[in-house]
Amino acid sequence: MTANSDQPATSQIDVDDLTRTAATDELTWLSYVLGQANDDYHGSDAPQMSDAEYDALKRRNMAIEARFPDLKRGDSPSDQVGAAPIDGFGKITHVVRMLSLGNAFTDEDVVEFDRRVRKYLGLEDALAYTAEPKIDGLSLSLRYEGGVLIQAATRGDGAVGEDVTANARMVQDIPQTLKNAPDVLEVRGEVYMSHADFEDLNTRQEARGAKSFANPRNAAAGSLRQLNAEITKDRPLRFFAYASGDLSAPLADTQNAAIERLAALGFSTNPLTQLCDDPEAMIAHYRRIEEQRATLGYDIDGVVYKVNDLGLQRRLGFRSTTPRWAIAHKFPAELAWTTLEAIDIQVGRTGALSPVARLKPVTVGGVVVSNATLHNEDYIKGLDSKGAPIREGRDIWVGDWVQIYRAGDVIPKICDVDLAKRLATAQAYEFPETCPECGSHAVREEGDAVRRCVGGMICPAQAVEKLKHFVSRGGFDIDGLGAKQVEQFHSDAWVKEPADIFTLRDRFGSGLQQLKNREGWGDKSASNLFDAIDDKRRIGLGRLIFALGIRHVGDASANLIANRYGTWSAFEGAMTAAVIGEGDAWETLIDIDGVGAVMAGSLVRAMQEEAERASIDRLVAHLDVQEAVQVTSDSPVAGKTVVFTGSLEKMTRAEAKARAESLGAKVSGSVSAKTDLLVAGPGAGSKAKKAADLGVETIDEDDWLALIGDA
Ligand code: IVH
Repeated sequence: MTANSDQPATSQIDVDDLTRTAATDELTWLSYVLGQANDDYHGSDAPQMSDAEYDALKRRNMAIEARFPDLKRGDSPSDQVGAAPIDGFGKITHVVRMLSLGNAFTDEDVVEFDRRVRKYLGLEDALAYTAEPKIDGLSLSLRYEGGVLIQAATRGDGAVGEDVTANARMVQDIPQTLKNAPDVLEVRGEVYMSHADFEDLNTRQEARGAKSFANPRNAAAGSLRQLNAEITKDRPLRFFAYASGDLSAPLADTQNAAIERLAALGFSTNPLTQLCDDPEAMIAHYRRIEEQRATLGYDIDGVVYKVNDLGLQRRLGFRSTTPRWAIAHKFPAELAWTTLEAIDIQVGRTGALSPVARLKPVTVGGVVVSNATLHNEDYIKGLDSKGAPIREGRDIWVGDWVQIYRAGDVIPKICDVDLAKRLATAQAYEFPETCPECGSHAVREEGDAVRRCVGGMICPAQAVEKLKHFVSRGGFDIDGLGAKQVEQFHSDAWVKEPADIFTLRDRFGSGLQQLKNREGWGDKSASNLFDAIDDKRRIGLGRLIFALGIRHVGDASANLIANRYGTWSAFEGAMTAAVIGEGDAWETLIDIDGVGAVMAGSLVRAMQEEAERASIDRLVAHLDVQEAVQVTSDSPVAGKTVVFTGSLEKMTRAEAKARAESLGAKVSGSVSAKTDLLVAGPGAGSKAKKAADLGVETIDEDDWLALIGDA
């Protein structure tokens, strides 16, 4: 802490005994130290003060202000919300979404990936791929217009990232201007820090008493996501370009040539990028990269393979979050041994009781690990989900010597135990049968590996986790209402369920005072919060369905479901009418690509369960739910139900289906009165006949391609 040590120590004198002069001095000092602490936390990524100390000083500041209201400073720390640093960045909507990559862990996975790609494309012959290191940094999208860097954005949630333009300008490897570039060019790549620069930075941090970074990735992320770009300037960041986003003209016909073009434009590209003719060559290159891993001077965590032909990449397209044309072949996980000190139970949003291992801290692949997952109670006992032994049946006791497994940024897990080292003091673990948070029964349903608290919203852990999910980025994403604020509001019983968020202003707004007098809230942040809440009364159907936090329903599925039903009333009507396992409403639901019987059952149950449904209805009464609009709703097949039959010659069935769906059509496997269009290739049989009987329009493959503009 850089605060002057000759300033008055706080908390020495009772607030009631302070003189006006002493109070004025202490408020000045508190404003200074708390301001410094904020800067350290948000500005330099080097917090010096513990959270508890910070909170105590803030409370002291408020107590003095309460006693001497006229001494409250214009820059009082009470008026500053402890915003997460990301709140300070502007938001940028990516023109082309920034996605993640699917993973391969074994050679067989790579062979299977290639097989899947060729099957999708209907290709027998071998296909060429590029193979290059997967850099362990953070991805960045750079937008150039007229050859000038105008914008840099992090990935964020893939759709919307943070504006880090000022910071990106401080990175040496990133050109400010380009010659002979397309008018619009988005370059995608990875920001990272070399090992040498990382060591150097940590030495400098330590020398000035600042926090050191756990690994180069954290250091790179902390350095790029800086509100003060001057700090970024002092941090030696680098950048490898590996792909493009939005473009006014193609860079090349192939991935390999596109990378060469990026290099010619002045970007650093990875020298280990290689063109491979088949999976065998890809795996051979993976081994070469793996051998060099330790001497590269920067962290990599695998090898990325990409279909070389960019035309084929376009045909392959994307699943909801990953491209079909690329995969990351990850390096094997890292392992370490340590002592299991305790097992805690965490209760999640859906009531799942998850055992968390508290460990004697141990370094695994450069990262200090002190918590790991133990999955569920059977796992602790040495059994898999079907009751068969795992780890040869070895169970895990508190006090045991256990092996930790860490792969990339996935939560570390305990994978083994050394029984020869079991101490006499070790204790077998009894998995609780009641919820540690609310005392309700925790039950295991038939076939479920997980024990769940039945308390629902009366369980504070579930209620809070549900609320956190509700306001999360993929959900209502309300500015100023994050996990921390939700916890605060819930513990004060201001918000018990999502609907309560929308009545906050009515209940507390007139007494803005009440919110504003609370720790962390000022006049401005309180009224900003109410405005931000009002902004989200208008919400897309997909976001709403996701935000409800129904088990198994992720954001991608929520959007698919929203696209199928269009409006809230159609959706809720269908869910109310559905009978699990049978009938039209059920069939329509499970007919959605990506919605299986398990997810569908969970949705129907949630929408029909009395208390949960009442809570959802209370919420929706405050909202203006927007109809789900398909991105491609102007396509001629949007909203139409299409059936493909017979053999297709210019594309595979999988490709035809994915393409039709990306244009907003619903693809069904059978012809019914609801079918709008049958696309029939040679050999079409009973479906063509049924379509004719029902008067369904039937066209051939060429007509279809002409209709969707792909001819
Ligand atoms: S290509 C459509 N190439 O890995 C996705 N990504 O796990 C295109 N990454 O978000 C990404 N090195 O941040 C690609 N050579 C490489 C990469 C790479 C690192 C990162 C990237 C991506 C993440 C996915």
